[in-house]
Amino acid sequence: MIHTDSLRLADWTTRGRSSAGQDLMAVATSGDVISFCLGLPAPELFPSDLRRVARSVLDQPSALQYGVPCERLKSQVVSLMARRGVRCTEEEILITSGAQQGISLALTVLVERGSEVLCEEHTYFGFQQAMQSFDAELLTVPTDLSEGLDVEAVERLLARGARPRLLYVVPTGHNPLGVNMSAGARTRLVEIARRYGVAILEDDPYGFLSYDGEPEPPLRALDEDWVIYVGSFSKLIAPSLRVGWLVAPRNVVRHLGVAKAAADIETATLGQRLVSAYLDAVDLDARLSLLRGGYRVRRDAMLGALCDNLPGARWSHPSGGFFVWVELQDSIDTAEMLPAAVREGRVAYVPGSEFRVGGARGRDCRSLRLCFSTNTPGQIAEGMVRLRHVVERLRH
Ligand SMILES: Cc1ncc(COP(=O)(O)O)c(C=O)c1O
Repeated sequence: MIHTDSLRLADWTTRGRSSAGQDLMAVATSGDVISFCLGLPAPELFPSDLRRVARSVLDQPSALQYGVPCERLKSQVVSLMARRGVRCTEEEILITSGAQQGISLALTVLVERGSEVLCEEHTYFGFQQAMQSFDAELLTVPTDLSEGLDVEAVERLLARGARPRLLYVVPTGHNPLGVNMSAGARTRLVEIARRYGVAILEDDPYGFLSYDGEPEPPLRALDEDWVIYVGSFSKLIAPSLRVGWLVAPRNVVRHLGVAKAAADIETATLGQRLVSAYLDAVDLDARLSLLRGGYRVRRDAMLGALCDNLPGARWSHPSGGFFVWVELQDSIDTAEMLPAAVREGRVAYVPGSEFRVGGARGRDCRSLRLCFSTNTPGQIAEGMVRLRHVVERLRH
């Protein structure tokens, strides 16, 4: 028998991205640091009536047993999707353990070893993590602070012959850039995807949170065959429940279901029933207007504080989601600035380089992502004054 010194891990583990900021982010969630790091929902906006609903669910005889997917929840998701302008049936829905599992399962079903996957230069870190174990190449297209995904760059890439297995995109409440794609860009993207036969993986965890009127319908409202939609209850109800969903063509749902059963048998039945019972009990219009109003105030506090404290910088103007993307005018490296910001300034953010596929370049180094959802307007104002002091100290 041959012995080795340590466990032999799969090759992909050596390619795993390390994050310079991760340790500091842990520090940032402690003590008196005002953290704009993680996209956590506002604790004040969690549903206050969830305890009562949970008690009624726990009283059901089979509450703690293995179970099949909650059919009632699927029909509730169909109604939710209709609110976003999407027509689908229960057979096209798979309940998942959060949007994150939806992304992973879609990759499992679509991505082949050695194939290509298309995404934006700046993209959700959880998508990049989910991609790590696939032996696939990430192709990128630019994203603009006001326009979002560069749709024409997608067209040029495909016209040159690239055939990625899928395009990953967050069209509403982009993470990390905080932008929304326009109606025109959405129509054009779907038309391009159809023409070249490329699947779109549409990640929409913030789709119900719009702060300036109704958001554009998701890409799935424009196409039923090429778009796989990922939804989540994390921001609508609570992330600890870990319940989300996928909408996909029926034949794809079958394979997604096999991949899901292999991963975790079933989304926690308790969580599914809780979400379903909550949706039965809640006045959804009132809930959405509470969430939208609550986050709008925080978004406005962050944008106002940026004007007051970093007037020379450029930033995105989010109409949805939790984030603002900031580009400082100074040639300050935001990854290098982070230790001083946390230890001396008692304020934290995520350096822009963390989201850049393939490593930071040029102006990524002076960019940062600020989350406005977690802190109150007062804390946001105070945190931004602290950030200004850190930037000023480095400038002099
Ligand atoms: C763009 C994006 N996708 C997916 C997720 C994961 O959401 P969930 O809690 O539903 O897994 C997040 C979480 O913040 C996110 O920002």
